[in-house]
Amino acid sequence: MAKRILLTGGCGYIGSHICLELIEQGYQPVVLDNLSNSSTTPLQRIEQLTGQHIPFIEGDVRDEAILDHIFSTYELSATIHLAGLKSVAESVAAPIAYYQTNFGGTVALCQAMQRHRVKHFIYSSSATVYGLTAQSPIREDAPTAPASPYGQSKLMAEIALRDIAHADPQWKIAILRYFNPVGAHACGQIGEDPCGVPNNLMPYVSQVAAGKQPKIRIFGNDYPTPDGTGMRDYLHVCDLAHAHLCALRWLDGASGAKVFNLGTGRGYSVLEIIRAYEKACGHALPFQFLPRRDGDIASYHAEPALATRELRWSATRTIEDMCRDAWNWQSRNPNGYT
Ligand code: NAD
Ligand code: UD1
Repeated sequence: MAKRILLTGGCGYIGSHICLELIEQGYQPVVLDNLSNSSTTPLQRIEQLTGQHIPFIEGDVRDEAILDHIFSTYELSATIHLAGLKSVAESVAAPIAYYQTNFGGTVALCQAMQRHRVKHFIYSSSATVYGLTAQSPIREDAPTAPASPYGQSKLMAEIALRDIAHADPQWKIAILRYFNPVGAHACGQIGEDPCGVPNNLMPYVSQVAAGKQPKIRIFGNDYPTPDGTGMRDYLHVCDLAHAHLCALRWLDGASGAKVFNLGTGRGYSVLEIIRAYEKACGHALPFQFLPRRDGDIASYHAEPALATRELRWSATRTIEDMCRDAWNWQSRNPNGYT
């Protein structure tokens, strides 16, 4: 029988891609999401694409009764935990919500798993847990010093997970630190659908390409990088989704909790992204230089060797693939899922 996996946050951007990948690889995802930043449309589309029914529970990851219901109804073998809040700026304004959801939600989920003796866990963390001074390529043992409540809440969850695995050797936990996930599934049916004006570069560029924003705002052209603009380790969301499948297999032979970077190992500048996107969409994209954005650093990228060695995973898709698939999603779904 196919293994059932609890996927929290499965209606979101990354979660929907993991959901599709799980089904394609013969697993049965059970999705828990409170729809605070999503809708069930991605699940309906995945059901149409795969011909498979996806059990969905609308609820909060901190809700004990819902968690007990899920673990007693479905025979689950592992949890992939993505449900959470992810805006750096919002976390500065509303830190309590971030600590409650990201830290409290992870602890509540582990409590329920402990009660139901399900002890395989994959956690979606972020490169934002590294300090601003970390040297690239960043290894997993680089110092952590998150600069926002969002980053702190992700790191606190990581620390709790390590303690949980330390106390009980039956727990097997993969903590995955994502660098910058972008792009969309090549089918053009699922993708990133940010509310309002996007904060992140790639969805903003997509909206300029589609004529929904007038100009790309480049935050800083005086960084110590080859062209002066900020550099990041962009990673195709399908490569990222696939890493979770590799982590699920890794858990079977693992012990304790282990952190893995997920990135390509190389950085691209804002201008390089714009050039690649122009090729993908077939026309020039207007941009203007603005002052640096508060809290941004010049450049960082992952050292992904540990994931290659232990998870047997590495990113295969190029920056051209990322821009092509982002544009395919944007142009087929000009208003996102609505
Ligand atoms: P997303 O907002 O698209 O998805 C998160 C999902 O969780 C949403 O569907 C939302 O409705 C749901 N959710 C939020 N709070 C919940 C709660 N209390 N109970 C149940 N469901 C809840 O975000 P995403 O980009 O898909 O990110 C998924 C995870 O990956 C997050 O934990 C985020 O911190 C982490 N991450 C994302 C990025 C990125 O660039 N997108 C980078 C690093 C880490
Ligand atoms: C941001 C978050 C980080 C989070 C990540 C998710 C901040 C400070 N950091 O990272 O915590 O994990 O998103 O992917 O918010 N840029 C522009 N114009 C724009 C948008 C961005 O020039 O309109 C530049 C930025 O200055 C940066 C690069 O593009 O150099 C990437 O920015 P972004 O996509 O927001 O990602 P991060 O800042 O790396």
